[in-house]
Amino acid sequence: MHAHLLDEPSRMFAADDLGQLGVLYRRIPVDASGDELNRIKRERGYVEQDEVALSSETPNLDAICAKFDKEHRHTLDEVRFVVEGEGIFDVRDAGDRWVRIEVEAGDLIIIPANKYHRFYLTDSKAIRCVRLFLNNEGWAPLYRQES
Ligand SMILES: [Fe+2]
Repeated sequence: MHAHLLDEPSRMFAADDLGQLGVLYRRIPVDASGDELNRIKRERGYVEQDEVALSSETPNLDAICAKFDKEHRHTLDEVRFVVEGEGIFDVRDAGDRWVRIEVEAGDLIIIPANKYHRFYLTDSKAIRCVRLFLNNEGWAPLYRQES
């Protein structure tokens, strides 16, 4: 994980700094992630789990990415454990500036419910993630301009 202010890259954010923004970050070895993810599910009440993979082979990749590359929030935590590949989450700091968080295999990130963010693939256009959910009520982005 590498995180910094988008418009001031020398301002780095460590895991504790992300915690100040309400974003939980943990490093978990992919090979040993089963037990740790189960523990997080128990601790935080996540009951649903699936896996999502995006790559240049994914049909309608641009349309899928276009749903999440505009600023949005969800009514549930966004929980992603990266198994393969890499991605970019931008979240707002207290001053409404973007903090760019680049994640790779072994990174767990939890963006809490209702925290505005956006997501991009990197140039490699490949990521595979485990997703955890509090319930199965669906997963819809609520865009900032519309809410
Ligand atoms: Fe999202």
